[in-house]
Amino acid sequence: MTTRDEEVSYFTAQGVAVVGKSEEVLKRLSANLSGRVQLVFTSPPFPLNRKKKYNNLQGDAYKHWLADYAPLLTSLLTPTGAIVMEVGNAWEPGEPVMSTLALEALFAFKEKGHLKLCQEFIWHNPAKLPTPAQWVTVERIRVKDSFTRLWWMSPVSRPKADNRNVLVPYSASMTSLLRRQRYNSGRRPSEHQIGAESFLSNNGGAIPPSLLSIPQEEESFPESVLIGSNTSSNDPYSLYCRAHGLSPHPARMPRQLADFFIALCTDAGDLVLDPFAGSNTTGEACERAGRPWLAVEANAEYASAGASRFRKL
Ligand SMILES: C[S@@+](CC[C@H](N)C(=O)[O-])C[C@H]1O[C@@H](n2cnc3c(N)ncnc32)[C@H](O)[C@@H]1O
Repeated sequence: MTTRDEEVSYFTAQGVAVVGKSEEVLKRLSANLSGRVQLVFTSPPFPLNRKKKYNNLQGDAYKHWLADYAPLLTSLLTPTGAIVMEVGNAWEPGEPVMSTLALEALFAFKEKGHLKLCQEFIWHNPAKLPTPAQWVTVERIRVKDSFTRLWWMSPVSRPKADNRNVLVPYSASMTSLLRRQRYNSGRRPSEHQIGAESFLSNNGGAIPPSLLSIPQEEESFPESVLIGSNTSSNDPYSLYCRAHGLSPHPARMPRQLADFFIALCTDAGDLVLDPFAGSNTTGEACERAGRPWLAVEANAEYASAGASRFRKL
């Protein structure tokens, strides 16, 4: 893969971080990248009513801007490739009313790329601040908005995936069931027929739910999909930012979220792209998992601070 030298922020043995608007960078690289990306894992700027530091678009402009990426990103995928996109919620200005813009934008993206929705995931972040503050903490007429949604999309209905790569520890009751090797079989009120042998084989862990809740600890995958939160401020990235007077990226995701989808949707050696890389959480997850990566970030300061993630890997 070649990029123009002046665009490269940093690179590692496995990946390249490029500064620039991804729609422009990827168009220039499309001849090299076409058909080679196994997974696009990304979190685009959210449709905010108040602008964050980076230039979030609003309303229909946001929806069209995001949807316009779909044909480009889809053209880069391998025949079994997929796109996982995280989009947060937005609220109508001045009213205790949720905006449907995040959903509309995801839907427009899916339609424009002729994509199928393989599965919807919810990332529950219990540590989120109680916002929108006016409705939640002042007037107390709403509860805190504590999740974002991730859409796993692909041009094909069976993109590469293996849930055995993301198993989580069995619950205490399942562990004791596996020990006892006896099960209360029969018909359930749900009308499912449970056989005497059902659920008695140990498959090395439980299949995780589509509700993902991430703990603070850096190294806890695969336990990471159990309850927790994204409050880590002493990771190498945050320490680097503090030491160099940089403000950490305001919308970082926990690395375990990227770990999960990379493990689910790729094998070692598969190329992963993040076109809205921010602090390059995706690149770090790839580096740890042995996946080559390409990260594109429009803001040069965010991009260069991401290099700190790779100093001890
Ligand atoms: C939600 S943040 C991504 C955070 C990232 N997942 C992380 O963990 O650090 C979205 C990022 O997209 C970047 N961005 C916005 N427009 C862009 C564009 N046209 N091309 C590339 N990056 C863009 C913003 O600067 C911002 O850092």
